[in-house]
Amino acid sequence: MQMHHPTMTPDTASQRFDREAQEWDQRPTSLQLAPVAGRLLAQVHFGAHDHVLDFGAGTGLLATAVAPQVARVTALDTSAGMLAVLRDKGLHNIDTLQQDIFEGLPDRYDAIVSCMALHHVADTAGLFREFARALVPGGQIALVDLYAEDGSFHGDNVAKGVQHFGFEPAMLEDIAHAAGLTQIGFSKIAQVHRSNGRSYPLFLMTGHRDAGAGDLPKASDAA
Ligand SMILES: C[S@@+](CC[C@H](N)C(=O)[O-])C[C@H]1O[C@@H](n2cnc3c(N)ncnc32)[C@H](O)[C@@H]1O
Repeated sequence: MQMHHPTMTPDTASQRFDREAQEWDQRPTSLQLAPVAGRLLAQVHFGAHDHVLDFGAGTGLLATAVAPQVARVTALDTSAGMLAVLRDKGLHNIDTLQQDIFEGLPDRYDAIVSCMALHHVADTAGLFREFARALVPGGQIALVDLYAEDGSFHGDNVAKGVQHFGFEPAMLEDIAHAAGLTQIGFSKIAQVHRSNGRSYPLFLMTGHRDAGAGDLPKASDAA
């Protein structure tokens, strides 16, 4: 069942990511997520001249894998600590951008990728409107997150700033269509084992902004 927890302030969640940043890549979950980047690249094709946005990039699980294939990656995250770890990896064509996605994006992108960040955003419809607005016509999304679960994946959901217990693909597809995205597809990309003894499937959601689409209204206009 889809759940929504509005109580976590962005600051608190961001501070937690800052604290965990140095150890992030060594977490058992991150080690299991590491192959996701290669699997995504096997299914989604980027152009050598592309500018790609990694939403909720963290320490760069996706950004560092995508960067060698494209011209430029912008790694967007609210957590300064996560982005500092990413910068220390020294990839020349990754720019870090520390801000909330709802503050407005400074550029247009050929593709938006994301891993395990969607479930931290309460307003999923607003997030997809931001994605659609930030994509060039014909641009694509490649988003990884949890299929709907019962809240046991994170356990301490409020402390971790979890806003959704995963997602039902049909619901996300409706939201994406309403935002102006088309050709939506889902496939299972990983299975993550947690210390509670259970394992959880993750999806890859793909889609495109209509190549003929004009400029979409600002997310803030679509109240
Ligand atoms: C679970 S981590 C995933 C990090 C990385 N993608 C990975 O898979 O290892 C989620 C990230 O999304 C970021 N995030 C959450 N909400 C955000 C927002 N509204 N704008 C920008 N970043 C956000 C968090 O700071 C955090 O680094």
